[in-house]
Amino acid sequence: MRVTLRAFIVAAGGLMVAGSSVRAESPVHRAPARASKITNPLDGNEQAPLAGAKLYARECAACHGAAGAGGGKAPALTQTEVSSAAPGTLFWVLRNGSLYRGMPSFAHLPEPQRWQIVTYLRTLRPNATAAVKPNR
Ligand code: HEC
Repeated sequence: MRVTLRAFIVAAGGLMVAGSSVRAESPVHRAPARASKITNPLDGNEQAPLAGAKLYARECAACHGAAGAGGGKAPALTQTEVSSAAPGTLFWVLRNGSLYRGMPSFAHLPEPQRWQIVTYLRTLRPNATAAVKPNR
């Protein structure tokens, strides 16, 4: 499983193309530059994406879709704008949300869980079913 995941990420990384649709007002772009400097304490932790996938299914999938394809007002999280955002930037988005536009804050989740979700978000790719499946 781990080997498959790693192979998938490498393969998908090669498919990433420049020129993703950039929405100036999207939360990822509203995050202050200093947020991107905060590093993910779970970087390299092999369990983190799996734990993050499980949390994603519980906390996020209802709005953003099971595989992150988006739905309703919730944007796709498979876009490179999100998966290639700095971990600290995504962490900022989870803490602050975008309350007036329908994205809740997840400040109530313990920080390690938010970092697990961030780790998972960075594995998402367009036109793919979820790279990491929560094992339930
Ligand atoms: C109640 C619905 C809802 C839930 C639940 C939700 N989101 Fe969102 N999310 C949104 C909406 C709506 C936006 C767009 C906000 C905006 O454009 O300002 C958004 C935006 C985002 C963005 C920014 C995307 C970008 O392009 O800048 C990220 C990242 C994100 N959500 C991740 C998550 C994660 C991870 C979870 C679970 C922990 C989650 N969301 C749960 C509705 C939701």
